[in-house]
Amino acid sequence: MATGDEFLTAMGIEVWKLRDRQGEIDLDKAEPNKPSQAEIAPEKNQVPAIEEMDAQVLKAAVAACQRCQLSKTRTNTVFGAGSLEADVLFIGEGPGREEDLQGLPFVGRAGKLLTAMITALGFDRNQVYITNVVKCRPPNNRDPLTDEASACSRYLRRQIEIIKPKVIVALGRVSAQLLLDSEVSLGGLRGRPQKYRDTDIDVVVTYHPAYLLRKPTEKRKSWDDLWKVRLLLSQ
Ligand code: URA
Ligand code: SF4
Repeated sequence: MATGDEFLTAMGIEVWKLRDRQGEIDLDKAEPNKPSQAEIAPEKNQVPAIEEMDAQVLKAAVAACQRCQLSKTRTNTVFGAGSLEADVLFIGEGPGREEDLQGLPFVGRAGKLLTAMITALGFDRNQVYITNVVKCRPPNNRDPLTDEASACSRYLRRQIEIIKPKVIVALGRVSAQLLLDSEVSLGGLRGRPQKYRDTDIDVVVTYHPAYLLRKPTEKRKSWDDLWKVRLLLSQ
């Protein structure tokens, strides 16, 4: 990763180059030889608390979840995808139409731009982890409601505990406000150092890729944010 121009080129060009690879990635298999809780649980009806679940059981719990009304309109839950060993965790808002249909995060148009951002950062999609604040699609792509986001937040919190990333990239206002427990605007939260809760995990707030598609001139600012991610990773 070098100049801003190279980054912008990557953002524009990789969008198209990487198209054919979308949808293939579901890498919740970082530890293929480790027996899951589902396999070792002595009694089938002993369901661990969310805070105790491993990734596989957590994913199954999400697939069956009816904790909020979004369960009624979803096609598929979208748990997340990538490496459970990732240093960088990207958190979007919630599944859109394509994501709901495929059960995978960021596989639509915004996803292509996110892939380009990840490439610009020097990673493949399968080296990072990508998920959302809510795991079920809000109808008509509206923002998740506060009660929906809070109903789903234990899953996200557990995902963060399992992955233990060095850096979380909050994509857009909904994600940033939830992660930082703040009502400050995106503009107010962006560009300042912050930690996730009482951990050492850095949170970098940036624009949602769907917003960047509407306002491509802001891509240059998102470059600053990704540069910051790079810097934090090298520390
Ligand atoms: N937008 C999001 O916030 N998340 C997705 O997974 C796709 C689009
Ligand atoms: Fe459950 Fe989250 Fe889906 Fe709501 S959005 S039903 S809390 S998985």
